[in-house]
Amino acid sequence: MLHSDALRPAHAPVDLRQAVAADLPVIAEVDGRAFGMHYSDADLDDVRLLFEPDRFLMARAGDDTVGVTGSFPFDVTLPGGAAVAAAGVTWVSVAVTHRRRGILRAMLAAQHRGFVDDGLAVSLLTASEGGIYGRFGYGIATEHRTVEIDRRRAALRKDVEDTGGVREVGTAELRRLAPDIHRRWAALTPGALSRSDGWWDTLLADREHQRHGATPLFHLVHPDGYVSYRRDNATRTCRIVEVVTASDEAYVALWSTVLAIDLVDTVSCRSMAAAEPLSHLLADPRQMRTVDQRDGMWARVLDVPAALAARRYTVELDVVLDVHDPFLDRGGRFRLRGGPDGAECVPAEGGAPVVGVGTAALGTLLFGGGHAGALARAGLLRADDPAALRRLDAAFRADRTPQHGTEF
Ligand SMILES: CC(C)(COP(=O)(O)OP(=O)(O)OC[C@H]1O[C@@H](n2cnc3c(N)ncnc32)[C@H](O)[C@@H]1OP(=O)(O)O)[C@@H](O)C(=O)NCCC(=O)NCCS
Repeated sequence: MLHSDALRPAHAPVDLRQAVAADLPVIAEVDGRAFGMHYSDADLDDVRLLFEPDRFLMARAGDDTVGVTGSFPFDVTLPGGAAVAAAGVTWVSVAVTHRRRGILRAMLAAQHRGFVDDGLAVSLLTASEGGIYGRFGYGIATEHRTVEIDRRRAALRKDVEDTGGVREVGTAELRRLAPDIHRRWAALTPGALSRSDGWWDTLLADREHQRHGATPLFHLVHPDGYVSYRRDNATRTCRIVEVVTASDEAYVALWSTVLAIDLVDTVSCRSMAAAEPLSHLLADPRQMRTVDQRDGMWARVLDVPAALAARRYTVELDVVLDVHDPFLDRGGRFRLRGGPDGAECVPAEGGAPVVGVGTAALGTLLFGGGHAGALARAGLLRADDPAALRRLDAAFRADRTPQHGTEF
């Protein structure tokens, strides 16, 4: 059992310990209270598909569990196509009776030291609130865009060729076909998370609480893509749950089919990347409106040289990064030399231009979605040489906007 010295001394001691399988009900109770929900026994059976007890930490005050944090194992794609092992931090909660006395900080410190000991290059999370995780070195890696399309007025441009090949299938057939398509999509998409069998079974279990008042899932499948959606017949809305495509032909054919669904006025999609071809494919782009855009997945670089050497860069780059990491002390000066064909990153002994950056901004840049120039203007990145900043900006951008795909 770990006694955390990071906790503020005025309060009764809180100990941290690793969970065991039998702790799941109590972990779910703490999490449920924090997020305002109750887990039934059936819910817990679903959760067991993904729950790995030794990846969970519990904060204990006497006999009470007053905090939990856990993680899921993922592989995440970097620009260039390499996938690296990553921890997806999840189930983070502290009892309302024990808030703001350092329990979250103590749990995250112990958990992230474990990630470092395990040799992970990066950790990831999706945040309940945007103000929590920057201080722990996390930056926004992907964004969520919610769009609404007026289906009756939206159509693809006349010169766009729809090569067809779309079939309507049930969930069992999609479960068989989708993992291969998803793997091919993930290889093309920075930020994409791998999906284990447990994740597929969980997502396609299609429980009542996953439906938010709409129908069970419908699916359209193409050899290179699929769309899963629900119908909300009261509002004549088609709610897209997921669009996954590994070729442009599939993207066109699937969207063309979605826009042909009768008795639907509005198509809504919550998982659009910040930049996607759809608006350019529409004859009238204004028929698609962005109704929300916000942080999606956050990333924290744990091993600067390993993370930066694993990705590819759009143009050749030779830069010394001075990385600032007050939370985990994983920073320092590193020389990064990279380009489209490979990269190396080693502790620096001087030479190239110096860019100062925190791990949070580095997490944003790592997946290719961030703009180094905007980070510099916001004071999150410092480059004395404007030419070095321009090159950094160009080198770190990825061909595709990052998307993580799986909510966790
Ligand atoms: C968010 C939550 C886990 C924080 O736990 P906590 O033990 O009170 O946090 P700590 O006392 O360790 O705070 C650590 C730091 O985060 C800050 N912080 C905590 N909660 C915050 C919030 N909601 N927004 C912004 N900052 C927050 C604290 O001010 C503190 O800052 P400092 O160390 O730089 O001074 C807890 O309030 C909770 O369970 N909320 C409901 C569930 C939830 O949102 N979980 C997060 C899931 S992603």
